[in-house]
Amino acid sequence: MAHVSDLIEKDILEYLQVHQNKGLLRFITCGSVDDGKSTLIGRLLYDSKMIFEDQLAALESDSKKVGTQGGEIDFALLVDGLAAEREQGITIDVAYRFFSTDKRKFIVADTPGHEQYTRNMVTGASTADLAVILMDARKGVLVQTRRHSFLVSLIGIKNVVLAINKMDLVGYSQETFDKIVADYRAFAKQIGFENILAIPISGLKGDNITEKSDATPWYKGPTLMHHLETVEIADDVRSAPFRMWVQWVNRPDLDFRGFSGQITSGVIRPGDRVRALPSARESKVERIVTKDGDLQEAIAGQSVTITLKDEIDISRGDLLAGADALAGVADQFNATLVWMSDSALLPGRPYWLKIGARVISASVTEIKHKVNVNTLEHLAAKSLDLNEIASVNMSVDQAIPFDAYSDNKDTGGFILIDRMTNATVAAGMIQFPLRRAQNIHWQAVDVDKGVRAALKGQKACVLWFTGLSGSGKSTIANLVEKQLYALGRHTYMLDGDNVRHGLNRDLGFADTDRVENIRRVAEVSKLMVDAGLITLVSFISPFRAERRLARDLLEHDEFLEVFVDTPLEEAEKRDPKGLYKKARAGQIQNFTGISSPYEKPENPEVRVDTTQMTAEEAAAYILRQLEERGMLMGYRVPEDTTPTA
Ligand code: ADX
Repeated sequence: MAHVSDLIEKDILEYLQVHQNKGLLRFITCGSVDDGKSTLIGRLLYDSKMIFEDQLAALESDSKKVGTQGGEIDFALLVDGLAAEREQGITIDVAYRFFSTDKRKFIVADTPGHEQYTRNMVTGASTADLAVILMDARKGVLVQTRRHSFLVSLIGIKNVVLAINKMDLVGYSQETFDKIVADYRAFAKQIGFENILAIPISGLKGDNITEKSDATPWYKGPTLMHHLETVEIADDVRSAPFRMWVQWVNRPDLDFRGFSGQITSGVIRPGDRVRALPSARESKVERIVTKDGDLQEAIAGQSVTITLKDEIDISRGDLLAGADALAGVADQFNATLVWMSDSALLPGRPYWLKIGARVISASVTEIKHKVNVNTLEHLAAKSLDLNEIASVNMSVDQAIPFDAYSDNKDTGGFILIDRMTNATVAAGMIQFPLRRAQNIHWQAVDVDKGVRAALKGQKACVLWFTGLSGSGKSTIANLVEKQLYALGRHTYMLDGDNVRHGLNRDLGFADTDRVENIRRVAEVSKLMVDAGLITLVSFISPFRAERRLARDLLEHDEFLEVFVDTPLEEAEKRDPKGLYKKARAGQIQNFTGISSPYEKPENPEVRVDTTQMTAEEAAAYILRQLEERGMLMGYRVPEDTTPTA
């Protein structure tokens, strides 16, 4: 929908031409219902004549029926479109609205102001050039004003308008206005805001929205609309160093090899020197190819295919960067995370990290602190819940190219994705690489796991037993180990209860602790395999994500998941340590199967059903499986010890 302009009737072609060439400003409005946010946006839409006649008629009649303005037009009704919002009097999701004036087009992200909608606000703000922070002149700087401002600064929005609303209710007092502005500036310094424009407005009466108000003769600045139409948006993306994520390698035939993607920042011309990251190999741009022909120059926002003078190895997900202004490359960094999922962040758990066109496995190695969004206070934390924000250290599987978020939102911003559900669980901003990672290099050794295992005449692997407490894991693993020993194999057993007496004695049974418990044991079992041992791991290991982590640390034929499948009723009936009884009596918290979940393996290599076989039969069956997979090298398990499973 375009705004109503005289040109539409006089010269539609010229109108369309002008409209197309108009610049675009994206902004976000922050404030809560009480601050009059919906009324303000409704007023902007109305004043820019962005309303169809039928909408206007509906607005007039709705205003009389359900409006809050005594029958006068209630602009908020234009915006609070959702029935649920109207009933609850709150705005519940990010709504993007489009409007335009003669000078500019606008996209406004309208997000709810409540703390429980922090993630919506971060989402809405992520592409904004400017933020309008709305305040009630009667109330001044509130907790929510601080929260909104902090989030806006976090996202890196540099232009801030402080819209001090409801000036009509404080008699258009300059003194009130000045005091609020002074209070705000004192706070804004803490978060590094510099460019603040404060405007006294009344969304309801229309003061200083599009027309300068006679009621505030003391205010010499622009109206809100004038400011939105004219504010200069720093052309950061154009002036920043050249960056382009390689979305795909375009190789239609042997003569052509181009790297396609959208330029995320900077300018590029044939002859420019570029490097591919993370490899850091350098070449020069030969051609910039588009479907409309070759370009002599391409800028941020354009989708192009770049060919290079040299044949260098570049894959999808790599970053092409200007050779003189390289991005960093690291596999550990500090970042700010905004947690957006109902399931908590668990340090140590692997998530997918998507940065540009690259998706890799990543985990949080440490939560440095979380931030109280209302007071900016730093708090200690073991995990993060929905809408919480924290400074964290992260580690990724391979070194990735990046910039600090403050330098480049596109190469410094990322999202985290849950590996099981594929849902986006966090938005992140890279702050700086961890230097410790840069100073630690992998040390090559001559005696490797292949020769260590060969000396023992075996193939090293992990037998990962998972199942409920009391399912029989340790009993069966113990029998398997005994038989392997009898066969002259070199083994080691890592048992949950035992490891929790030493290496993991600092860990309890909360989800965060179990994740760390398994992460450590997975790493230890990898070392054991490296030592050439057949390693038996017997841990409840209740979460799929961490069993997956353990699997991913090893080669595909080195990891056998053994599901000791004993139903809860059966394990509880056996109750070898009397723990189920205690758990039922409320004496043990977070007990697996009762007050903490057990996620069954979906595709274990081996499953033993302990209601159908004895522990001895289960052990023999597992050995047979090992033999069939060539893990016992030369040994044959006698047929008659193999039960029919
Ligand atoms: S895991 O879930 O983190 O993998 P792990 O295998 O190390 O657990 O330890 C489980 C053992 O700890 C159980 O066999 C049981 O003896 C004991 N235990 C004590 N409290 C709990 C609990 N709340 N949940 C499960 N096991 C517990």
